[in-house]
Amino acid sequence: MIPRHLQYLGYRLLRRSPRFQRFIAHFSQLALESYLIQDFITQPYGAAYGLTAADRARLVEQFRHIVTRVPSGTPALVQTILARELLTLPPDTLGDVIECGVWKGATSASLSLVCEMTGRRLIVADSFAGLPGTNPYLYRVDHMQSYDYLEPGRFRGTLDEVRANIRDYGALAVCSFLGGWFADTLPTLDRPLVFAFLDADLESSTRDCLRAIWPLLAEGGLIYTDDAGNMAVVRIFFDEPWWQTHCGEPAPGFIGSGSGLPIMPITSSIGYIRKQRPTALDGWRRTYNHSFLPFQ
Ligand SMILES: C[S@@+](CC[C@H](N)C(=O)[O-])C[C@H]1O[C@@H](n2cnc3c(N)ncnc32)[C@H](O)[C@@H]1O
Repeated sequence: MIPRHLQYLGYRLLRRSPRFQRFIAHFSQLALESYLIQDFITQPYGAAYGLTAADRARLVEQFRHIVTRVPSGTPALVQTILARELLTLPPDTLGDVIECGVWKGATSASLSLVCEMTGRRLIVADSFAGLPGTNPYLYRVDHMQSYDYLEPGRFRGTLDEVRANIRDYGALAVCSFLGGWFADTLPTLDRPLVFAFLDADLESSTRDCLRAIWPLLAEGGLIYTDDAGNMAVVRIFFDEPWWQTHCGEPAPGFIGSGSGLPIMPITSSIGYIRKQRPTALDGWRRTYNHSFLPFQ
């Protein structure tokens, strides 16, 4: 048995090692990911649609397979979180699902599988010509002090490519395709929506999406975006005059602003807002002593 003080000394030396630090960082990521995946599989998400743990485990395998086959801006873990949220929507909340900004259709393929299981239609909306504009767009993630210049045409996936990927890995029969710039195509939507995944990168594109989608979104419906780290996009959700002008309601705010939902140790790219009356507390848990810790 190694004496305690030597164990501690060993640990102090070890924790200075960059290799050990990398191992621990990787381990934390894996541990959190495993927790979220296990939660998804073992908890009864989608039971109201007749889904079993085996169905959810199969979905996770399919998502993992899809991201190895189709270039994806969205990892399988994020797709799993989107699936979880879609499955928590009650079956009697009627409406379609939409993904705005699909690149090669990897996430569309995954979402289409969930839509097939829940009897919903998936609208796959994109220019199918990549990002709009004439100049590179500075995309900042302030929390990470990182940036990129996104040039027009980046993330181009043609309609044929996207359709083929969904046919090969998803459920093509539940999909409708909406090709063109969001500002032109999304205003043609006229059916209720329950869930939107906005992955448009640009602030102007996200505004085009919100302007068209919010009025069609059912009470209790969700809008997720993959641009939670980008303050230009996040700011839209708090832009009071814009919401009053375009949607006739107060700005809803955004959960995950700037650093994303806690599904990865340091940062994640997703956040969301639910459309609900500010006074609605149905199904909420009352906490006492102002304690919001989950296990109390
Ligand atoms: C980051 S990619 C989407 C990645 C995809 N969601 C995934 O998970 O792999 C951004 C997409 O948004 C589309 N896009 C951005 N602004 C648009 C606009 N105003 N109209 C149509 N498509 C747009 C681009 O064509 C591109 O496919």
